[in-house]
Amino acid sequence: MKYLCEDLSHCRILIVDDEPANTQLLERVLAEVGFQHYRSTNDSRRAAAIFEEFGPDLVLLDLSMPYLDGYAVMKQFVDQLAPDMYLPILVLTADISPEAKQRALSLGALDFLTKPFDITEVVLRIRNLLETRNLHKQLHDQNHRLEERVRQRTNDLEEAQAEILERLALASEYRDDDTGAHTRRVGSLSERVALALGLPAEEARVIGLAARFHDIGKIGIPDSILHKPGPLTAGERSLMRTHTTLGANILAGSRFLILRVAETIALTHHHRFDGHGPAPSLAGEDIPIEGRIVAVADAFDAMVHDRPYRKALSLTEAMEELRREAGKQFDPRVVEAFLAPGPGDLLHMANAVNDEAKMTPERV
Ligand SMILES: [Fe+2]
Repeated sequence: MKYLCEDLSHCRILIVDDEPANTQLLERVLAEVGFQHYRSTNDSRRAAAIFEEFGPDLVLLDLSMPYLDGYAVMKQFVDQLAPDMYLPILVLTADISPEAKQRALSLGALDFLTKPFDITEVVLRIRNLLETRNLHKQLHDQNHRLEERVRQRTNDLEEAQAEILERLALASEYRDDDTGAHTRRVGSLSERVALALGLPAEEARVIGLAARFHDIGKIGIPDSILHKPGPLTAGERSLMRTHTTLGANILAGSRFLILRVAETIALTHHHRFDGHGPAPSLAGEDIPIEGRIVAVADAFDAMVHDRPYRKALSLTEAMEELRREAGKQFDPRVVEAFLAPGPGDLLHMANAVNDEAKMTPERV
């Protein structure tokens, strides 16, 4: 790992000083005490390029130099560093005023060595700064590992949530038909219609996922009614209608957006746009858009597939039925989005949704 040089002798040290005697002396000292990786330059204009290529753990930097002084070089180094990177810069100076010292400190210098050098002091300062850099690096790595663990836990929770929703959707789907294909198709159709209506992609995605729970309330409807091969009696129809409130009750009060949207859909997907119907309900645009979308997707999918009590309508017949009911049972804007721009596209969409439904259920 380039940033960490646990064995200090492996640390990389860059010396920038216009005076060759100084760089030679420092190189000799470094070699004598066992450092193996050091580079030096007497031309401050080359410092930034060497810095980038060499990647030092510590810089020994003269302040007073021709062309680029130490402050300018320091700024170049700091600009190259990642914000959380700790690079010790040890300033070499013959004499330093409090103002110059302050300026160097503010630019990132960590310590000062006064010329002429006291060799013991030079070595001690270098070692101290490298130790500090290693400690900083260890702390940085530890924080990084902790962040990674938190991220992993969050991912696990999100995956658990997604899986639970997936299984809840499956439970709802298998109650409705043997394959669960209807609710998956309604989900896909609803997402596509939401997109065709111009809703943002993320909103359409949530509607598509939530739409799969639209009939979850059927869990509470007796088999004798749910799977009755013939038409329902008035009493049975009335009981069947309670699947909307049952579903909404099952989903109510969630803090998760998908389940909140699913609750709305479960409650409103049988509301008629014209407000007519056996029970008082919302009408027109007071019905949430997700409910109006699923009403059309659900009805269309039911029409074009065989049901126990009737054969499937053709695509053309189903489209005619949707048009007939626009403004009555369905929101005309949703019907328009559903049918536009042409039968070819609707056919393509219905086929695509059919193909999708045959595959493994998508993740919620
Ligand atoms: Fe329903």
